[in-house]
Amino acid sequence: MVCLGNICRSPLAEGIMRHKIEEKGLDATVDSAGTAAYHIGEPADRRSVLTAKKHGIDITKLRGRQFEVSDFDEFDLIYVMDESNYENLKIMARNEEDMKKVDYIMNMVSPGSNHIVPDPYYGGDMGFDNVYNLLDSAAEEISKKLEQ
Ligand code: 4NP
Repeated sequence: MVCLGNICRSPLAEGIMRHKIEEKGLDATVDSAGTAAYHIGEPADRRSVLTAKKHGIDITKLRGRQFEVSDFDEFDLIYVMDESNYENLKIMARNEEDMKKVDYIMNMVSPGSNHIVPDPYYGGDMGFDNVYNLLDSAAEEISKKLEQ
């Protein structure tokens, strides 16, 4: 799960995905990262933590990290939130194989649409509820894909 800062959207995506994997008894490794280095080592944004908590998901232990080229080797599926994340990974990708693993997370709900999960950082708390709902619907589809 990849966003810009790894403190708002992608930690929430990681938390939701972990929760679904646990609920469904699936065997998968989930992690998140940011394309920027602004928030390395920091906990998730307070608003993401509270939004997750409302849904019984604890993301207090997650810490920000920056996406690394080795993540292309480490993970089979890499989901981005918006076009800037996508373009940043394109710059880091070593070849087409790397980019084949990358997709917009909302394409799991609306294939090929390239809809984004909007950056809620500068908005109010409502933005985080919207982000939660989008990510929950996408994570549900990812979990179905994993079940298959
Ligand atoms: P995220 O949100 O990419 O969803 O974690 C942001 C967090 C921090 C910043 C921008 C977006 N920032 O500019 O510091």
